[in-house]
Formats: sequence, structure tokens, C-alpha cells
Amino acid sequence: MKLLFLNGVNLNLTGKREPGVYGTETLESINKEIAAHFAGDECSFLQSNFEGEICTAIQQADGVYDGIVLNAGAFTHYSYAIRDAIASVSVPVVEVHMSNVHAREDFRNKSVLSEVCKGVICGFGKNSYILAGESFKL
Ligand code: DQA
Repeated sequence: MKLLFLNGVNLNLTGKREPGVYGTETLESINKEIAAHFAGDECSFLQSNFEGEICTAIQQADGVYDGIVLNAGAFTHYSYAIRDAIASVSVPVVEVHMSNVHAREDFRNKSVLSEVCKGVICGFGKNSYILAGESFKL
């Protein structure tokens, strides 16, 4: 199975920013663990702070990947461009968050992406990515 793990804005700072919320492990290290977990699969990893790059990655993944695991970061809460990109492709996308966004500030309760995603997983730290990747195999 070909899986794309796509991270959006500020996720490059994972391990450094708000460690009480996102932990102390870097995104690079988390991605290594994900790759080890999915050793029998083909995994790609991409992070961008630019909304358009996330849209391009989603467009280019169509017909190439079996699934996208997307943590769009704060883009989740307001990016109609990313929402439209997801709605425009047939590759399934699972929205993930490391934190439980429903137990945090009000603005994080709203995702403009969820409606066009296959499902949503949040609150399991780095394991949110693994749970989302596994969901494509069910
Ligand atoms: C996040 C939650 C978002 O609200 C936040 O803006 C992030 C990270 C998470 O993984 O918990 O950047 O997507």
C-alpha cells in the first residue's frame, strides 16, 4: 500500500513548540517510527508551511497513493483551498491531529476539512498518524 503522510503549517516545529501539547519528539523522529511501523508498505512524507504546496501535494497524490494521512495543522480550521483540493481528488484522505482538538480552544473544534475526509482521528499523539494509516487497510 502506498501512503502519503502530509503535514501542514508549523508541524516542522513538533518537538520544540508547546511540548506539553505535542510532546518532545521531532517530526523527523515520528516519521521514522511511522516508516518502521509501515515497513511492508511504501510511505512518503511531506511537510509544508505553505497552503498551496499542500494543495499541490494532494492533487499530485491522486492516482498515485492509496491514502493520505493529513495533519493540516491550523490550516484545518480555515483552509477552503485544502478542503477543495481534497474534494477534487479520489484518493481518500484521513484527517489527523496529535492533540484532542475538541478538548482545546473553541476555534479548534471546527474543521473545514472533516466533511470531505474519509474520517478523523485525534488525541493519540504520534499514534494518531499510525491509526490513520492503519485505517486504509480495513
Ligand atoms: C494540530 C491541532 C491544530 O489545531 C493545530 O493548529 C496544530 C496541530 C494537532 O496535531 O493537534 O498545528 O493539528
